[in-house]
Amino acid sequence: MPNTFAEQISTKLNETLLSLPFASDLPEGFVAQVDQAQNRQFGDYQSNAAMILAKQLKKNPREIASTIADAFDGGALTDKPEIAGPGFINFRLKPEALSTRLDLLIEDEKLAVSAAGEKKTIVADFSAPNVAKPMHVGHIRSTIIGDSLCRIARFLGHDVIADNHIGDWGTQFGMILWGWKNVLNEEALEEDPIGELVRVYKLVNGRQKEEEGLRDECKQELVKLQAGDEENLAIWKKCIELSKQGLQKIYGLLDIEFDYWLGESFYNDALAPLVEELMKEGIAEESDGAICVFFPENEKMADKPALIRKSDGGFLYATSDLATIDYRINELKADAIWYVVGAPQQLHFDQIFAIAGKRGQNANFEFIPFGSILDKNGKMLKTRDGDPVQLADVLNESIERAYKVVDEKNPDFPEEEKKQIAEVIGIGAVKYAELSQFRMTDYKFDWDTMLALKGNTAPYLINAYVRTRAIFRKMGDDFQPGGNLVLTEDAEKDLALKLAQFAETVPAVLNDFRPNTLAAYLYELATTYHRFWEACPVLRAEGDVRYTRLALCELTGRVLRCGLGLLGIRTTEKM
Ligand code: ARG
Repeated sequence: MPNTFAEQISTKLNETLLSLPFASDLPEGFVAQVDQAQNRQFGDYQSNAAMILAKQLKKNPREIASTIADAFDGGALTDKPEIAGPGFINFRLKPEALSTRLDLLIEDEKLAVSAAGEKKTIVADFSAPNVAKPMHVGHIRSTIIGDSLCRIARFLGHDVIADNHIGDWGTQFGMILWGWKNVLNEEALEEDPIGELVRVYKLVNGRQKEEEGLRDECKQELVKLQAGDEENLAIWKKCIELSKQGLQKIYGLLDIEFDYWLGESFYNDALAPLVEELMKEGIAEESDGAICVFFPENEKMADKPALIRKSDGGFLYATSDLATIDYRINELKADAIWYVVGAPQQLHFDQIFAIAGKRGQNANFEFIPFGSILDKNGKMLKTRDGDPVQLADVLNESIERAYKVVDEKNPDFPEEEKKQIAEVIGIGAVKYAELSQFRMTDYKFDWDTMLALKGNTAPYLINAYVRTRAIFRKMGDDFQPGGNLVLTEDAEKDLALKLAQFAETVPAVLNDFRPNTLAAYLYELATTYHRFWEACPVLRAEGDVRYTRLALCELTGRVLRCGLGLLGIRTTEKM
């Protein structure tokens, strides 16, 4: 795939720099940056290179800018650059450059998005709920962000392994085992396994706080499980299986798949030898009967050792995460490991990454944290009883509310179709509310905003897609490539440029793991399309103009569908 506009202009600009009288004075390795213009009044792309060079060469920035602009040969790509403000160089694309690009987009199912330069094997660790504990709002964020990052990385050609590192081996099982044997409601378990397990967990957890005897009994159950007691192991297995089934339903609704479900328990046998090894290597040491790793070399963690074996011999969250890293690097051949986990676990990951560093494991580790979800009033999102809100409830309510919207808009659609559309919109709305925010932002969860047909919402974007499709239904035919593109109206050129910039937007998401930049792009694309739609009649136009406008509609539809798809959001043909 040819380079993006930004890359093409940047190449030309850097060639120009090397041809100038002051080329020999350029700082070593200097590369001029070209960015999309913030304000299209002055051009489509801009560079601040002259300003940076002026400082280094101690010259007037506007003078340097005009020397560069005079020497710059835009060829078929851009007009002669213009200088603005303190020394910005502005580039405007030639309409032919835009139409050549559109021709290319029409041919390319990847919509001109180039594959990543270096193909990597990436293990993505996201969602990772804890068995028999409610999957709550924090897991919603991880699940939705993680899935979107996987889709984008795959689209860019990486090998991505989505691994659901569920919490399936924790102290909660002492309580669950006791509860299973004493207070389980078999019927409820049949009907709603996750709900019943959570009920049992909460009940026993509450009671054991007051009853010391019960606490000991739960502990005994846990010890038996860890020692391999057959009955307890069988119950544990059953719990995991039931929980997985329940989770699968939610992931099915969300259209999310994992390649592996290697939960914490998968690493049980690796923990003891791992701790031994770390001690032998001198990385871990004994401290008050426990085994710890200290980080004297690291100012931030100098007084925060990582505990990897308790004095009673038990292992910890950190221990299993270290074993997990071994497996991912040695068996899954990971070049990169991404952890999409809430911000409160920052220290935990700083510690295990530092230990991996001490062991010489130099995969590229990325901790991708996120903030909280707040209710309309800015408080932590909770149910009326003060429990964390559960993902399944949120999704079902969203679908119900979306159904009302669809029903109001199209009372005559067949029932089945209304339901399907409501599912696409309901799930899409929850995902988009998440992905349109920077992940560290504590965002407000508000049904009315996220399901609105206007504004930066999933329904608005899906509706924009539906409108691009409606034209072809009205015309009675699909788009047929092979005509002559002519871009004359501003609204056409604006839209063409936006479409071309999809290829600049998608790869950039992975620079700092911000799917919200893709969401923002799609919203701008939809509003640009809307303006084009108001300004330029399509079916009433003729000849090349009609072909051009049909192509713009077709491509807008494709980019919207592809882009929403990268966010994990489906589209519908009607709504
Ligand atoms: N189960 C953990 C939790 O709910 C998240 C696990 C994240 N992944 C990991 N490798 N530690 O908090």
